This record gives sequence, structure tokens and C-alpha cells, in this order.
Amino acid sequence: MTTEQSAAEMLSEDVHSFARPSEAVATHLDLNIDVDFGNKVLSGQAAYQIENKTGTEEIVFDTRGLQIEQAFVGDDMEPTSFRLGTPDEVLGQPLFVKIKPDTRRVTIKYRTSPEAAALQWLNPQQTAGKQHPFLFTQSQAILARTWIPIQDSPGIRITYSATVQVPAELLAVMSASNPTEKNPRGVYNFEMRQPIPSYLMALSVGDLTFREIGPQTGIYAEPATIEAAAYEFAEMDKMLVAAEKIYGKYRWDRYDLLVLPPSFPFGGMENPRLTFVTPTVLAKDRSLTSLIAHELAHSWSGNLVTNGTWNDFWLNEGFTVYFERRIMEELYGKEYADMLQVLGYQDLRHTLEELGADSPDTRLKLDLEGRDPDDGLTDIAYEKGNFFLQHIEKAVGRERFDAFVNKYFATYAFQSTYTDTFLNFLRSELIQGDAALAEKINIEGWVYTPGLPQDFVAPSSDRFAKVAETFRSWQKGVPAEKLATQGWSSHEWLHFIRMLPEDMTQQQLTELDKAFHFTTSGNNEVLAAWFLHTIRNNYASADTALQAFLTTVGRRKFLVPLYKQLIKTPQGKEKALAIYAKARPNYHAVATVTLDELLK
Ligand code: BES
Ligand code: ZN
Repeated sequence: MTTEQSAAEMLSEDVHSFARPSEAVATHLDLNIDVDFGNKVLSGQAAYQIENKTGTEEIVFDTRGLQIEQAFVGDDMEPTSFRLGTPDEVLGQPLFVKIKPDTRRVTIKYRTSPEAAALQWLNPQQTAGKQHPFLFTQSQAILARTWIPIQDSPGIRITYSATVQVPAELLAVMSASNPTEKNPRGVYNFEMRQPIPSYLMALSVGDLTFREIGPQTGIYAEPATIEAAAYEFAEMDKMLVAAEKIYGKYRWDRYDLLVLPPSFPFGGMENPRLTFVTPTVLAKDRSLTSLIAHELAHSWSGNLVTNGTWNDFWLNEGFTVYFERRIMEELYGKEYADMLQVLGYQDLRHTLEELGADSPDTRLKLDLEGRDPDDGLTDIAYEKGNFFLQHIEKAVGRERFDAFVNKYFATYAFQSTYTDTFLNFLRSELIQGDAALAEKINIEGWVYTPGLPQDFVAPSSDRFAKVAETFRSWQKGVPAEKLATQGWSSHEWLHFIRMLPEDMTQQQLTELDKAFHFTTSGNNEVLAAWFLHTIRNNYASADTALQAFLTTVGRRKFLVPLYKQLIKTPQGKEKALAIYAKARPNYHAVATVTLDELLK
């Protein structure tokens, strides 16, 4: 190995995986598993095509909480020895499997633990239909290893096929080619022909039905939810067309959605070919569909060109937020997209305040060594990343920037990139030695410096300026019911609610609630923002709704701020603990890890 190579490998080293891909790397997975709802266990085998690059005597996989039963090498399944290394609470255990220089295939027989953090096993009561159990996985960031022994690094890609056995009355779907109907044997076959990183491995099993939306798009949901979902996401096909117009052909054949039960811990997860989405965006007015634009955008930024390590997370999310807003602008105009930018900016301000503007975690390029990547993945990557790209766009003009990003995606398609890969590409393809431009772009200030750089220009929105005007007239004494709020979207309402002062009287809260029915809003963004005020100001009329919200919704982005607000006072803390005791069984491990820490 030359010094140059080893330096490059140091830069791209993934501190969250035990795998040693420069020695022996998996290239294809044949997964064959059984889904046992009774015992909450997946069992079966993961058979890998591997490449032994250095003639090493062992290949290393990541595992966490897996029971490894047997290992084999070769097509004729010759038993081989294996051992598990010392467990680490966050990273799990390396699995060393003995191989030979000419070994091309490794098969691992294993079973998962009922506590596997990627898996949420729901009982029928926790589903929309209340008749059947439900299972879904969440692999990002480093949880794939809790349900598959795998080289669990975003710098490694595999193709896969899978055979999954489930109870006959349920349908299985994966981040792969999918069935659209149940089969009486409950055996489903999948194939993902494009190489993907491990965090995009995904499986869900439930009483699911499929509805076509466009030629390339459709929705999977429980029968009780499919109608509402088909209405809400009717524009997904248009989004796909708009996205292709900006960054070129969609590379994954189909784009479908899977609408999950409300305990899904995220808004959405960009599992390739099949985005997983929370039902909390079913607002009946298509107001929260930027989430779909976001997950769709990941089909380019993230799934096609992938952050090589979690320290480079902004390459996934910053690009995706930027692209999401471009798609929304294309479909609904600049005025609409501007509202999203301002809301995003508010989130960014909030995160900067929470972390402290000089916290190293507010740099785009992160250093998460020795930590759970989940702790360091914040709004910084999303919004600061987005504003950095907007800043470059403004410096060179949209046309030039679009050509540049198109070339970036084409150049690194189906590969992983690191912050340096992108920055070098930026220098060679866009800056091209233009010193004035380099200074303007200010890579150092944006990527390696905490907080926001001096040259940052905050976004603004004309529609929000009107909201602010309306808000001021309320402050000056115009009664709520007389305010000019006609035709407001949920974004305008959200902005209005975020403008409310910290301290409010019962009379003010009652007045607003009576005029605008916030407590009974069907829009979960509006509800969550409103509850922050009702908690802070002890507005008891919202307590029942708050409790119902916290016991059904499992989306961490909503839960964390609400619980944080609750525990600010001793009475609030008592309330929080009581609600949490009831609600915790409904939450995914991804959420309980965070909340256990917060509420301990
Ligand atoms: N890939 C993320 C979700 C994620 C990030 C899971 C890090 C685990 C670790 C997904 O694309 C996402 O960003 N979801 C957002 C929605 C989006 C509109 C900002 C969410 O879930 O809130
Ligand atoms: Zn995302």
C-alpha cells in the first residue's frame, strides 16, 4: 500500500463499523428469513458473495444482539469457524468468519433478538386495522446490524435478493422489487439489482394493500389507511417528473410509498424503491407533502451518491433538503418554497441555540468517533447543508450550479462520497482556480467552522411577512376571530404559532383556540407547535389532546421537544413520566433510546 492510498483510506475510515472492506468485502447478499411474530424473531441465513482482496483469513461483519448459529464457506456450504469480538454498547460486536484466499461465498445462519433495535413488532391494537400484527425495520444509521449480520458501513454497497416467509394473511415488502398482492403461502421473493449501502436494507410485514398512483408510482398501506393516503399523495408522480427534470433520470425503476402505523419514529425513510412514511402527514389537505419530495430527492442524494461515513451526513441530508425545496418550487412556486426555507431556518436557529453556536457539532463535517451517530445527526446537516448549497447556487447562478450537481451525481452514481470528494469536485469543476469565487464560496467557513458564517443571508418569505403583519394586529388588540387568516396554509399557521410569545395568559390561549381550533387541528405540525405553548402556559384544555398525541404518535421529532417542554417544571415532569409510562410501549427503540435518556 502506498502512503497516498493509506492517507485516503484514513480519511474515509468508518469509525462506526468493524468491517475491513479493503481486505474482504461483501458484494451481494442472498437473504432467506422467517418472520416469527409470536417470538418476535427473524431467523434464517445471510449468504454473501464476497471478494477476498488481500488473501486474508477472515472476513469481518457487524452484528449487534444477533445469535450467530453457524457459518459456512463456498457453494457447497462447508462449515467454517467464526467468533464474535468484544461487545460495544453502540457498535455491537464484530463477527469474524474464517475464509480462504479463494473463498467467494460465505453463509451465516443466525437469529435476531426480540429486542433488536431496528425492529418494531406491533400488536394488532397498534395498527390502523386492529386485526393483524405489523413489523417494520429502521436500519439507518447503524441498526441494520441488529437484524442482519452485515458490513454495516455506508461506504460499502451490495446488491441483494431475499426470500421472506411470513404468516399467510400478511404481505411482506422490502427496499427492492415488491409484490403487489398477498400469496397464500406467505412466501415472498425480492430483488435489489442496484448496489445499495446497508442502512437502506428494509423490510415491513403487515396487512398491506397496494394502490397505483402513476405508471411508476404507488402506495402500500393498511386497508384502513389506503384511501386517505392515495388522496394525500396523489401528486407523487408529478414530484418524480419534476425531480427528473432537475437532476436527470430516476435510477431505481419504481418509486412507491409504504405508509406505516403512527409509531414509526421518523417522518420518512428513503428506503430505495419504497419510501417508508409516517401517517402523521395525512393531513387531508396535502399540506405536508414536502416530506415525500424529501424522501424522493434521496433517490439521488443519499441512495445514488451516498455519504461514505456518518461524519459526512450533510452530503445526504443537506443536498436532499436543497433538492426537496427545488422540487416544491417547481411544483408549487417560489412563494411556497420560500415558506419552507424560512421554517427550515427557524429550525436551524433553534438547533444552533440548543447546541451552542460554537459547538463542534454545528460544523457540516462532523466528528462522531466514539459516539452513537444518532446523537450527532441534527438539523445542522439538513439546514446548514441546504443553505451552503443555496449559497453556492447564488454565487454561480442556478444554471451553472445545476449543471455542476448533475455532473456530480453522474460521476459518483452508485458510489459513496466523502466531504473531501465533494469539495475537490467543487474546486475542480466549479471554482476552477477563480480566487474571487473561492473566497465568496468560503468552504472553510461553511464546512469546518461552527455556527453560521458572516456572509450568511437569512431567507425571507412574502407570505410569512403577511402572517407577521396579521400577528402584530392581534398583538395590538384586533380580536383573533377578526384576523385576516383566510386561505392560510398549514405553513402560515405554523409560522403564526411559532411567533406567539413565551408567556401567554389563559385568556389569550382560549381566544386563539376558540377562533382557530388549534387543539383539535388535524395537522400534526400545527398541533405539535401549539402544544409547546399550551404546556409552557399550563393551558389545561389541551391536556387530553396532548396525552392522546403523545400516546399514539411515535415520531421522535415531535416527541422530544414536547417532553423537553414538559420536564421544565416539577409538575410537568410528573405528567411527562406518567404519560411516558403509558406511551413507551408504543414507541420504537429509536425513540425510547432518546427519551429514556431525557426522562431518566
Ligand atoms: N434519512 C432520514 C431519516 C434518518 C436520518 C433516519 C438519520 C435515521 C438517521 C430521512 O430522510 C429524513 O430526513 N426524515 C425527516 C423528514 C424530512 C422531511 C426532514 C424526518 O423523519 O423528520
Ligand atoms: Zn432525509
